[in-house]
Amino acid sequence: MPILKEQNPSAITLPTPVAEIRHPAHRPHRVVLIPGDGIGPEVAEATVRAVEATGISVEWERIELNAKTIAEHGGVLPNTVLDALGLFRVALKGPVGTPIGGGFQSVNLALRKKLNLFANLRPVRNMPGLKTRFSDVCIDLVIFRENTESLYSGLEHRVAPGVVESLKVITRKASLRIAKSAFAFARREGRRRVTAIHKANILKISDGLFLRCCRRVAREYPEIRYDELIVDNAAMQLVTRPETLDVLLTPNLYGDILSDLAAGLVGGLGIVPGANLGETHAVFEAVHGNAPDIAGKGIANPTGLMQSAALLLTHLGERTAAERLETAIHDVYREARYLTPDVGGAASTADFTDAVIRHLELPAAA
Ligand code: NAI
Repeated sequence: MPILKEQNPSAITLPTPVAEIRHPAHRPHRVVLIPGDGIGPEVAEATVRAVEATGISVEWERIELNAKTIAEHGGVLPNTVLDALGLFRVALKGPVGTPIGGGFQSVNLALRKKLNLFANLRPVRNMPGLKTRFSDVCIDLVIFRENTESLYSGLEHRVAPGVVESLKVITRKASLRIAKSAFAFARREGRRRVTAIHKANILKISDGLFLRCCRRVAREYPEIRYDELIVDNAAMQLVTRPETLDVLLTPNLYGDILSDLAAGLVGGLGIVPGANLGETHAVFEAVHGNAPDIAGKGIANPTGLMQSAALLLTHLGERTAAERLETAIHDVYREARYLTPDVGGAASTADFTDAVIRHLELPAAA
């Protein structure tokens, strides 16, 4: 039986899946801002403007983190980043490019490992009014991706000329932790189904352990339907029956790939927000990368980072501001006059942002 949810649901106001991490209620809130590189600074500036237009007072601690600072510092995580995050514990982050097939280690990976940001949460929903191949069905799913291990262990070596090994690491501890977060989230949000994604037919020991952990946690949540999908079948289900999927609980690599696929269902990478959550820190960032092909052109879509900022505001306890920001973004999509080229419009990043701010400044509907 498909899980049908309300079409065009109200603003995303996801609570953090790790209930313990609540940022101290500073006024103004203190948030580390890492604009990143490529389109990062463009979407970060747009998002800061939108957050400020909600009226919430935020003190931004801006930290540069990009290929240049990495070259200067000689490591991917300068002390400035770690010191600021140690103090403020919460960040809004733009994308940072990673060289392909060589060069420095991924900044994102290093940050997630260093701060133990074990849960990567990506809510994927239709944008109101936006025509896509799937706009006739209600897509409202959340991907819970384990963020610290699997093939992202970074353990690769050359065994012999022409032969390399990459180690896929799966631990009981990390698998139980992500499964508990996903189920606790599903219970809190009234979600009805959690689907574990795996390839345990082939990777019997590693994905087998992941599945056993998911099953163990599932037994503690009898009201939530638990099932499993092999990752290739999950990819197919996502494009044939996306409305039936609810919470996807995944190891690292599968979640990474499926979340880009899922982003494609609702309009592309420019839209989908994300959060990296641990026990003590939280870093909010969009799903997309630094998009070097459009960097500097002023046409990047800031929706993904703005919606990540709405998750951040919820995390800070500013639920009303988060809802207002989400609603303003949705209104701009409904209006369809100021959309960026990736979603079929002709507006610039600044035009879209101005439109969001105008909606934020409108008096509340009588
Ligand atoms: P990408 O997301 O940067 O770009 C893929 C395609 O989507 C491009 O055509 C791009 O123009 C478009 N796109 C992405 N975001 C957009 C936006 N906000 N508005 C409009 N169009 C947008 O992915 P790609 O090319 O795989 O990666 C580029 C670099 O980004 C790599 O170095 C990668 O490592 C890095 N990356 C960083 C991430 C992070 O910092 N969290 C996440 C993903 C990739």
